Amino acid sequence: MSSHRTTSDRRAPILVTGGAGFIGSNFVLEWLAAGKGPLVNLDKLTYAGNPENLASVEANSDYAFVQGDICDAALVARLMEEHRPRAVVHFAAESHVDRSILGPEAFLRTNIDGTFTLLQAARTYYGSLEGEEREGFRFLHVSTDEVYGTLAPEDPAFREETPYAPNSPYAASKAASDHLVRAWVHTYGLPAMITNCSNNYGPYQFPEKLIPLMIAHALKGKNLPVYGDGQQVRDWLYVVDHCRALMTVLERGRVGETYNVGGGNQRSNLEVVTTLCGLLDELVPESRFRPHFELVKFVEDRPGHDRRYAIDARKLESELGWRAQESFETGLRKTLEWYLGNAAWVEHVTSGSYQHWVKQNYDARTAAAVVAESAR
Ligand code: NAD
Ligand code: TYD
Repeated sequence: MSSHRTTSDRRAPILVTGGAGFIGSNFVLEWLAAGKGPLVNLDKLTYAGNPENLASVEANSDYAFVQGDICDAALVARLMEEHRPRAVVHFAAESHVDRSILGPEAFLRTNIDGTFTLLQAARTYYGSLEGEEREGFRFLHVSTDEVYGTLAPEDPAFREETPYAPNSPYAASKAASDHLVRAWVHTYGLPAMITNCSNNYGPYQFPEKLIPLMIAHALKGKNLPVYGDGQQVRDWLYVVDHCRALMTVLERGRVGETYNVGGGNQRSNLEVVTTLCGLLDELVPESRFRPHFELVKFVEDRPGHDRRYAIDARKLESELGWRAQESFETGLRKTLEWYLGNAAWVEHVTSGSYQHWVKQNYDARTAAAVVAESAR
C-alpha cells in the first residue's frame, strides 16, 4: 500500500486490530465483501486468532495482514505512519471470562496496556493530520455490555448512561479500556467512539464460548456443561448484525458517544442449550447422540457469575437507523449450519492447546447434580 496518499484520497485504509479473532474476522470479511476499501489487520495471533478465517481474502489487494502486538508502541506508531489509516477499529482483546478468572494478567496487559498504547499512537498520528484527513479520522473502540455488571430479572436493560459495575477480571479490564478511550476524547480531543455490545454468536467463534462449545461437544457425544442452574440470561446478537452496527457507527456515529448494540434476544443459558439440542436433533438426524439434550450436565458455577445482561439499543436504532436483522432462531440455525459445514475448521482449532484449556476449565468443576434435578 502506498504511503504517499493525498488528503483527497478516498482509498485510505482502515486499521483493524484483532481482525483474526471471531468478531474481527467477520468484520474483515463483511468490510471487504461490501467493497468499503483497503483494510490493514494487526493481530498477534494468540490462541484466539486464526488466519484460516481470512484465507478467502488473503489474495485481495485491499487486504493486508500484519502479525504483531498492540502493546508494541513502535510497531503501532509505524503502522499508522506508513498506512495513514482513516480509522482505527479496535477489536484486539483477551475476551473469555473463564480465562480471565484463571489468569487475569494477560487481560490487563492486552485490554488495558494495549488500548493505552493504541490510543497514544492514534493521538500522535491524529495530531499530524490536516484538513479532510483530520476531519474524517475516527477511532472506534469495540467493547462489551459486561462493563455494566449484572441485572436482576425485572431491571431495565443497560443504557449508555448505566453506571459501570464490572464483576469479572475481563469486564474490569474492558471497563478500564473504555475509561481510557473516554479520557482521550475529553483530554486530547481524539475523535473516538465506543460501542458496548451483548453476547455475539455466529461463524468462526472459538469453541470456548457457550454456543460453539456446546456444538463441538454435542457432535462428539461429550457432556454439555451448563454452569450452575443455567438460568443466567444473555442477550444474543448475531455477529453479522454486530458488524453492520460497527460500520454504521464508524460512518455516522457522533464523536465522543457510546452506542449500545444488542440483538433483543434475551435467553437463559438452558433455553439456548435446549434450542440448540433441538436443532442438532433435526439437522443431524443420523447422530447416535440423539436426543442431544441428554448430554446436558449441570456443573459447578462460574465464580462471580453475572445473572443477567440485556441491552437497550434504542439510541443506535433511532439515531443511526440500525436494526438487528437476525432473530435468535434464524441466527442459531445459520450458525449451526456453518459449524456443520466447517468440521475441518473446528478440528484445527480444537487440537493442541485447546484440549489443555478444556481440562483446566472443566475437570475441576464438580457435577451440580442437585441443581440439575431441580432445574429440569
Ligand atoms: P476473540 O478472542 O475471538 O479475538 C481476539 C483477537 O485479538 C484474536 O485474533 C487475538 O489474536 C487478537 N489479540 C489478542 N491479544 C492481542 C494483542 N495483544 N495484540 C494484537 N492482537 C491481539 O475476541 P472476539 O470475540 O472477536 O471479541 C472482539 C472484541 O469484541 C473484544 O474487544 C471483545 O471484548 C469484544 N466483545 C466481544 C463479545 C463476544 O460475544 N464475543 C461481546 C462483547 C464485546
Ligand atoms: P460465554 O460464552 O463464556 O460468554 P460471557 O461469559 O461473556 O457471557 O458464556 C455465556 C453464558 O454461558 C455465561 O452465562 C456462562 C455460560 N456457560 C456455561 O454455562 N457453560 C459453558 O461451558 C460456558 C463456556 C459458558
